[in-house]
Amino acid sequence: MITIAVKASRDYDILIASGLLGQLGDRAKALHPNAAAAAIVTDDTVGQLYLKQAETVLKEVGFSVVAYSISPGEASKNGTQYLHLLDWLAERQITRSDIIIALGGGVVGDLAGFAAATYLRGVTYIQIPTTLLAMVDSSVGGKTAIDLKAGKNLAGVFYQPSAVLCDPDVLDTLPEPVFQEGIAEVIKCGMIGDGRLLDQLLNEPIQDNLSHIIAACVTIKRDIVERDEFDHGERQVLNFGHTVGHAIERLCDYSIPHGHAVAIGMMVETRGAVKKKLCPPECLYLLESLLHRFQLPGHTDYSAQELYTAALYDKKRAGDEITLVIPREIGRCELMTLPVAQLLAWIEAGCQS
Ligand code: NAD
Ligand code: GLY
Repeated sequence: MITIAVKASRDYDILIASGLLGQLGDRAKALHPNAAAAAIVTDDTVGQLYLKQAETVLKEVGFSVVAYSISPGEASKNGTQYLHLLDWLAERQITRSDIIIALGGGVVGDLAGFAAATYLRGVTYIQIPTTLLAMVDSSVGGKTAIDLKAGKNLAGVFYQPSAVLCDPDVLDTLPEPVFQEGIAEVIKCGMIGDGRLLDQLLNEPIQDNLSHIIAACVTIKRDIVERDEFDHGERQVLNFGHTVGHAIERLCDYSIPHGHAVAIGMMVETRGAVKKKLCPPECLYLLESLLHRFQLPGHTDYSAQELYTAALYDKKRAGDEITLVIPREIGRCELMTLPVAQLLAWIEAGCQS
């Protein structure tokens, strides 16, 4: 068992171990001995695969269990679904001493986390991430959100879970393209904070080291979150590749998967940094090799001008300035704030091969 302790507005442990889903009952009971009911939030695909097991182990230790399932996918992370979930919790008479359990990928985690944060002004919740992306990123650090018509994650709060239980066994059922998207975020973590992780990804079979790879990513994110839980500065490095990545998603109306958009974004942003002599070319070569190894894209047909126009919606923009995440060496990124007027030149540099 790997245990990663998080010190934040609520302290909690992130546990990583094969078979952890089967221990959900005991662990939930130990953490919340006074809770009578557990409300599981999941999606239809994950529910079919893992809900029964989760319900059984929770009932075995005395919880009364209710379950709420959404349709899989980003479209469910909306205001209507959120209010429906709150009403459902109220109808089931879930109280502040009960617990909510998010069993699923990032969509379930973000929606259930936001509901937990706001229902009765806050009910504790446990994250059980079931995608690689959710294990290495979305379940860690307490960002919860739903999408608005104007864009993704526009309504949300910071609300830390009471535990995160990562059971890599559940990744066996994950469709390959969804797993591959998670790898883009794993590469991002290595680029931000751990050159050895990138080496390992390049040279060793990922399946042999999955728990340790997840742990390495979680540790990088944990360290950043502990220093900047509420995203005032440093936490923005976790958005490496996302300025251009989000621009691509916006331009294609989200038809390009997030992980692919981030992969391309990392290439454009790294190439830009190399051209501006802020980053050694080895960093770009390594990133290119990694994307190639995991069959992730590194190129877009959108023009620099199109990417620039779409990137102006970036959350890291403040008035006439925008903050970019710049790789400075293998395993280290820095924030750099520049006038918005210079962004086009950056993206142009990043798009030229
Ligand atoms: P997702 O939750 O939509 O899951 C992807 C698909 O995989 C779904 O169809 C789901 O049903 C299926 N699935 C999940 N686990 C499975 C399993 N074990 N076996 C078989 N199928 C399974 O997508 P995601 O990539 O996990 O998360 C994306 C979301 O995460 C986005 O909404 C994004 O905004 C959010 N996010 C949040 C944060 C944060 O800090 N809160 C960080 C990154 C991303
Ligand atoms: N996924 C970015 C963050 O948690 O800040």
